[in-house]
Amino acid sequence: MVAGKASVKDLQTARAVLMVLIIILLQTVGLESARSQQSVPPQIDDEMAKQEKIYRSRGDEVPSGYVTYRGFSDYTGLLSPNFCNSLGSLGSSDRWLDIGAGNGQAILDYYAAQDSSAASKTCSGAGGKVRAVAMSIEDRRTDAWQQQAASLGGDRIRYIFGKRLRQYAPGELGKFQIITDVYGGFSYTDDLSGFVQRTLDLLDVGGTFYTLIQSVRLENGKDKPNTWYLTELVDGAGNGARVCSWLKETACVNVVCDSKSEWDTPTELISIRKVCSDVSVPRMKLLKYEAGNPPGRKFELQE
Ligand SMILES: C[S@@+](CC[C@H](N)C(=O)[O-])C[C@H]1O[C@@H](n2cnc3c(N)ncnc32)[C@H](O)[C@@H]1O
Repeated sequence: MVAGKASVKDLQTARAVLMVLIIILLQTVGLESARSQQSVPPQIDDEMAKQEKIYRSRGDEVPSGYVTYRGFSDYTGLLSPNFCNSLGSLGSSDRWLDIGAGNGQAILDYYAAQDSSAASKTCSGAGGKVRAVAMSIEDRRTDAWQQQAASLGGDRIRYIFGKRLRQYAPGELGKFQIITDVYGGFSYTDDLSGFVQRTLDLLDVGGTFYTLIQSVRLENGKDKPNTWYLTELVDGAGNGARVCSWLKETACVNVVCDSKSEWDTPTELISIRKVCSDVSVPRMKLLKYEAGNPPGRKFELQE
């Protein structure tokens, strides 16, 4: 190369570097404007970082309240009694998604051949066992999971991790006839309306989403006075709203809530059946998020 005169290769390299810098700049501006549009509350980043630490925790570091090993009988005891019947009515080509599956024990139990006395047998209908997908942010698979998956072969059971529900592209996971969430994303997400929308988008018409949520204003109004709410909903005027009343505003679904006022914390058992395809969940804005097991959250209903 002659001094003072750039070669074609030098110019191409400089152009490539410039393009990369422009892309980084545009992405930064894009992220910032997305954030400011969401008007994320202050300190939220610190709380999210603390929450990430809980997800990443291992061994002795796992907080005692962060339970990731509930089995199938825990699921049938915690979810609406219809969960078992729904699962039993499906066939071997149908699909079950467990969002926030922890180590996937519920699916393992359901598939365990020797588990003949347990609820898993009662909930398996004549059509055979459904194909099951366990979703978790962090990988909590055990040796038992690996062995069971290998012995079943194919894609009877799958464990997907490394992403939140919202990070899966539309169509990436396919459709499901039944979806569960036991103290998973429904209790942990910072975007409750977006989470429910995406969950219902993954359901086939006729399919049902079974979940529960603790320490909330109950639909039957029987929560004790001075209850401290872990997930709090307010309307635009700051008045307390109920999770189930909000869900019942959703288009194309049939919502059933079973209020458990006698439990240690007021808990709502929720089942949402999709009855047509144009599901539209009323939006909410995040007002507060405090890391925990589950986190404390406050949302404001949008018009
Ligand atoms: C307390 S554990 C519950 C595990 C299991 N359901 C049980 O009862 O043992 C919470 C689970 O929810 C998952 N989770 C939380 N938020 C999520 C989200 N937005 N998308 C997918 N998984 C989520 C976590 O990664 C974890 O697997």
